Amino acid sequence: MIADRVALSDGASIPQLGFGVYKVPVEDAAGAVSTALQAGYRHVDTAALYGNEREVGRAVRASEISRQEIFVTTKLWNDRHADAERAFDESLERLGLDYIDLYLIHWPVPSAGQFVAAWRALQRIASSGRARSIGVSNFQTAHLRRLIEETGVTPVINQVELHPWLPQRELRTFHDAHGIRTEAWSPLGRGRVLAEPVLARIAHKHGVSAAQVVIRWHLDAGTIVIPKSVHPERIRQNAQVFGFALDEDDRAAIAALETGVRTGSDPDSM
Ligand code: A2P
Repeated sequence: MIADRVALSDGASIPQLGFGVYKVPVEDAAGAVSTALQAGYRHVDTAALYGNEREVGRAVRASEISRQEIFVTTKLWNDRHADAERAFDESLERLGLDYIDLYLIHWPVPSAGQFVAAWRALQRIASSGRARSIGVSNFQTAHLRRLIEETGVTPVINQVELHPWLPQRELRTFHDAHGIRTEAWSPLGRGRVLAEPVLARIAHKHGVSAAQVVIRWHLDAGTIVIPKSVHPERIRQNAQVFGFALDEDDRAAIAALETGVRTGSDPDSM
C-alpha cells in the first residue's frame, strides 16, 4: 500500500498521494489510471476541462478494487459557475459513478463574479450526497475569505500550484488557520523543477530519482500530492516514496529553491 489517508475537516479522509491526469490524452487515460491503480494509488484527480472523465471512470469501474477504496476528484469548469449543479451531473454521468469523493471549483475567475454562487451550489450538491466533500482550486486568501464570510462554509481543500519553486508559504498559513488541506497541482513543476542540480544531488544520495525526492518533500510537508505521468514506469516510481527519508540538509537545500515562479496561470487573472 502506498499512501496514508489524511483527515478532512468534514470527517472524510483522502489518500495523501494521488494520480493526476491533467493533459493525459484521452487515448492514454484509461490505461494510465489502470496502471496507477495496479501500482497502489487509491486516489485519482481529474476535471471536466481535461476531457478524460469518461476514461477515468471506465478505469475505476473496470478495476477490481471496491469503489469505496478509490477516492475520485473532479472539478467545475470556469464557464459553468452559474450552472454548477447541471455541470456536476454531467461530470457524474461521464464518470459513470454514483458519487464523487471530492468536487472542486477549478478557478475562482474573480472577473466573472460568480464563485460565491458556485460555492452555494456545491453545498447543495454535498447535501444531496452526490459529492462527499467539496472544496476549491486556485483560490487566493481573499477568495477563500469571501467564501467563508458570505456562506459560513469553509472548503475542505484548496488545490493550488505548489512545488519547490512555489511553496505557497503564505497561503498555507491561512489554510492551516482555517482547517483547509493544501493540495499541490504540478507538484513536479510540470517536470521542469526536476532539472534543478541540487535535486539530482539529493536523489543520488538516497538512491532515488529527483521526482521521488520532490514527492517525498510534499508528503513530509503534509501536502496532498497528485503527480502525473503517462509512462508506466514513472507512474510506479512516483508511488515508491516510502523507503527513504529526507534529512535537515536536504530540506534546507530544497527550501532554497524558492523563486515564487509559477509554471501555470495566475489565479487573480485567469
Ligand atoms: P511524462 O508524463 O512524460 O512522464 P507535474 O505533475 O508537476 O505537472 O509534472 C508532470 C511532468 O513531469 C510531466 O511532463 C511528466 O512527464 C513528468 N514526470 C512525471 N513523473 C516523472 C518522473 N518520475 N521522472 C521524470 N519526469 C516525470
